[in-house]
Amino acid sequence: MILGKIIDNNKNLSEKIDKQKLPEHVAIIMDGNGRWATKKGLPRSFGHKQGVGVLKEIIKSSKKLGCKILTVYAFSTENWTRPTKEVDFLINLFSEVLEREIDEIHQESIKIKFIGDLVPFPESLKKIINSSETLTKNNKAFLLNVCVNYGGRQEIVNVAKDIALKSFSGEIKPCEVNEEFFNSALLTKGIKDPELLIRTSGEKRISNFLLWQLAYSEIYISDVMWPDFNELEFLKAIIDYQSRNRRFGGIESLPNESFEDSQCNS
Ligand code: IPE
Ligand code: IPE
Ligand code: MG
Repeated sequence: MILGKIIDNNKNLSEKIDKQKLPEHVAIIMDGNGRWATKKGLPRSFGHKQGVGVLKEIIKSSKKLGCKILTVYAFSTENWTRPTKEVDFLINLFSEVLEREIDEIHQESIKIKFIGDLVPFPESLKKIINSSETLTKNNKAFLLNVCVNYGGRQEIVNVAKDIALKSFSGEIKPCEVNEEFFNSALLTKGIKDPELLIRTSGEKRISNFLLWQLAYSEIYISDVMWPDFNELEFLKAIIDYQSRNRRFGGIESLPNESFEDSQCNS
């Protein structure tokens, strides 16, 4: 009965979505795991575990809807400041989940890519990450980017270092440094910028996520904690996105009206 209602609700919302105006790339700050668990009197680790199932659901929903890329924030460069026990739990969880899910990810023709500095992670995790990326590298149906030990500022600093070195060695001239060059040196090179950023748990900040790439993304804040997020909430975010007027610094184009006309009318 309840399940039937959920399916109906999701179907009703899906029908409101304009398939021609879908965001191709959605980025998500999956936040609120710890608070969700604490509120239930459970250890924070329960929230992280619960969050994995939600991620699976959102990958399926976004792929089914017709989105092409999903980029999720799983561990920030600042998350190392958490208690060692929580950091270790998360690192183990990444290994465990990846090992368990990689076959299904591959069967679904999903390409998985990890974005961030993998160096500080244990060899065992690095090995699973490398083999998962290799296994899925030719998959075409969907791209899943998982940001781990990722920080937007660090990414930009690394690009600046790269440019400084290439300029010093004479490989490039300072006048050749432009947005295109910068894009090609980012960890996200070749991936279009997200049209939509979703952050759960009601926090209204970017927390060092994709600082360059989010320059013109639409931002949707959901008050729902990540472990309670689901397909319905995702569809709500897409519908909200479709109601936005993306101007990119320009003005809304009004049919048959020139700049002079609009000045006269005001
Ligand atoms: C997001 O949930 C997951 C990670 C940052 C790894 P949090 O762990 O930040 O949960 P809250 O925000 O403390 O509730
Ligand atoms: C952002 O959430 C990082 C991830 C979701 C991985 P945080 O919980 O770390 O961010 P703050 O501390 O609320 O800014
Ligand atoms: Mg948080």
